[in-house]
Amino acid sequence: MAEPPTPPLALDLGPLGLDGGAQLLLNHGLRRRAPGQALRVQGSHTDLALHLAAWCRKRGLALGTVDGALTITGGTDARWQGAARADAGQASPPGAVADRADARWGVAARGALVEAGAPEFHFPLSDKPALWSDDAARLYAAAVAAQWDPDVAVDWQAEFELPDEVEDAVVQVMTYLVENENAALLVPARFLGQMHPHYREVLQCLAITIADEARHVEVFTRRIALKGRRPALSTAGAQASLKTLFDAPDFSVSSLLLAVLGEGSFVNLLNFLQAWAPDPVTRQICRLAGRDEARHVAFGMSHLAWQLAVEPDLRSRLGAAVDARHDALADTDGLNEEVFDALVLLAAGAFTPEAIAAGHARVQQLMAEMAEGRRSRLVKLGFGPEVAAALAQRHTRNFM
Ligand SMILES: [Fe+2]
Ligand SMILES: [Fe+2]
Repeated sequence: MAEPPTPPLALDLGPLGLDGGAQLLLNHGLRRRAPGQALRVQGSHTDLALHLAAWCRKRGLALGTVDGALTITGGTDARWQGAARADAGQASPPGAVADRADARWGVAARGALVEAGAPEFHFPLSDKPALWSDDAARLYAAAVAAQWDPDVAVDWQAEFELPDEVEDAVVQVMTYLVENENAALLVPARFLGQMHPHYREVLQCLAITIADEARHVEVFTRRIALKGRRPALSTAGAQASLKTLFDAPDFSVSSLLLAVLGEGSFVNLLNFLQAWAPDPVTRQICRLAGRDEARHVAFGMSHLAWQLAVEPDLRSRLGAAVDARHDALADTDGLNEEVFDALVLLAAGAFTPEAIAAGHARVQQLMAEMAEGRRSRLVKLGFGPEVAAALAQRHTRNFM
């Protein structure tokens, strides 16, 4: 015996029309229906029948009149047929990161259902291996938790007075740091603008890295001006070295040259300045910036480790990029005399032959530590010991 048909579900819209939000009640009613059940709609709005007909037509729903009442039958909303989930697909958990991000997903949230006909966006970096890091989410969270306010975290009122030549040396080093920070801000920013937002964690990680660099630019600039000085010298060699970072052909080469080798060396430099800077303000800002830099290095390492695991051939391309940069910089002076001498003076602490000799030895020691750090990071990325040592030595003498 056939089961009696389910009576239609009744919906009374009262005076509410589709120009006033009635679709919320219609959708609510449609969702509450049992399978196969019709929705009987009542209402006193003058244009209800006309508007409801158009609304149903657009969604592929059938509208008829049963016993004198408007009745909707049919189930699916045609507008969302052909929509695509912005994720790795049905075989993966909902919202899973895809190996390739579709241009048609545009700027939609990862996992969103994207309507067919949405515009395509052109993001040159849309392949997971080209940018992904499994550590990006953790590093982003760590960076958010470690943000500091330059006004609060630095005791700008600390009282100190340095001999003119020592203050000059600090200002020269700060001037050099600012140009390096400008490069460290702009180079990842250029790649960030090319990345498909499907890879959310990486974008967040780079965005906060850029915010870190903005603070570094600020504090080093403020230290220059603290005693009324103007910025000091910017040399052609230092700028030539930084310019090669802007010429990196892709994000992976950039991650190696800037993050793994350059910012890695800067962690050593900032530790050195934290130890030897002659005033508390310089020591504080170098400590704060150095902490941020360690995260930037960690991100570069984790991205390259991930990409190398899926593209082992990348290793030789990275090595070739270090060589190419070395050759491009062969005619420049390397670390400029002004910065080198300023570092020696800060590490010497006095104008005596003994003190200067000690300062000189400390700077040599710093450079050896930088090279050793670069070598060990390259080994961690799977470079053979000899190749790693050679590449570590071929890194720019300008540190970044
Ligand atoms: Fe920085
Ligand atoms: Fe950095």
